[in-house]
Amino acid sequence: APTPMIYKGLAGVPVDYTAVSKVNPDTNSLLYRGYPVQELAASCTFEEVAYLLWHGELPDDAELAAFEERERSLRGLDHDVKRIIDELPLTAHPMDVVRTAVSVIGASDPATPDDSPEANLDKSLRLLAKLPSIVAYDQRRRHDLEFVEPRDDLGFSANFLWQTFGEAAELPVVTAFDVSMILYAEHSFNASTFTARVITSTLADLYSAVVGAIGALKGPLHGGANEAVMHAFEEIGAGEGGAERAVAWLDTALAEKRKIMGFGHRVYKNGDSRVPTMRDSMERMVEHYDRPDLLELYVALEQAMGERKGIKPNLDYPAGPTYHLMGFDTLTFTPLFVASRITGWTAHIMEQAAANALIRPLSVYNGHDERHVPTKD
Ligand code: CMC
Repeated sequence: APTPMIYKGLAGVPVDYTAVSKVNPDTNSLLYRGYPVQELAASCTFEEVAYLLWHGELPDDAELAAFEERERSLRGLDHDVKRIIDELPLTAHPMDVVRTAVSVIGASDPATPDDSPEANLDKSLRLLAKLPSIVAYDQRRRHDLEFVEPRDDLGFSANFLWQTFGEAAELPVVTAFDVSMILYAEHSFNASTFTARVITSTLADLYSAVVGAIGALKGPLHGGANEAVMHAFEEIGAGEGGAERAVAWLDTALAEKRKIMGFGHRVYKNGDSRVPTMRDSMERMVEHYDRPDLLELYVALEQAMGERKGIKPNLDYPAGPTYHLMGFDTLTFTPLFVASRITGWTAHIMEQAAANALIRPLSVYNGHDERHVPTKD
């Protein structure tokens, strides 16, 4: 028999249709429901983008007002969720905390088994509203600080920063954060979204699919890269001479055949469409916090990587230092990605559920030939 084709890593294999987003590496564009992500980042709030991803259209004023009111009303955390987070060791990775908290919410929601589109929309909004509380609660408990109650007079991003730092963030910071949420929201059949779709395809509930997606996002080849970028920056050390140290660090890392986090992409081979917008936000934060040394290190590493390998940065490269400047702990960066990507994941979960086929590929066996258990006498 002819040797079957193996599509290792499913690279280049289309597995289904989606109307949620379109990634076009040739034109370096990313559309959410037809809208270029750069336009959404420039003109919309993250809440409008969440609405767009779920409903397929941007909201009008009345729809947005109703959506925001409901989102703001769901931001609190039940006692049980806080109690279970408190029982987790401080050594737990924040992604493990977020994964556990979402699992608790799913286990406690009486609507979990209801897979109607209305129930799934409500669960998605519930998670969107509660993730900032979870992420902020965990960052604060690591610093021995009390939970900050959500504020219903603030938008998603302003409230997220308020709950994390316990003080009102300045407008440029809120804007840069909101842009990052919009850029992280959706990216077609990436590993975590595909995981969510696989789980949904078995007719498991939305929370189970999200918990699985969080697990897939944690790895450094995917969402964990934004955290890993910052670890690299920390190893190099910003400040006087950072640019020279970055080049030396890169040469050593490449000689050791290490992957440089925040660079390269499975789909984009000529640069990630989201990077220029995020880099612009990062530069604003560099100016806001007066940290030109961080930008120097950023530029030097990017340039050297281009010269040595011809590989361009992905979204995680500018996102890492941006979150660092805002004051987030490095380990909290990937949970921030979760708080945004919950919108894309759940849009795909609902799309998968609406036109389901069990996802169950084949494998080509390359183990032992058939053999038999020796008879015992
Ligand atoms: N550092 C060093 N070499 C790299 C990198 C990198 N970041 N990315 C690709 N390469 C090299 C790789 O070693 C390989 O070289 P060779 O052909 O000589 O073996 C070649 O480029 C092709 O790479 P690949 O790993 O086969 O390509 P892939 O499509 O499987 O990988 C990737 C895509 C994202 C896993 C990879 O670029 C990578 O590991 N990047 C670092 C992790 C990262 O930043 N991930 C975030 C991805 S985007 C946003 C997100 O999901 O959060």
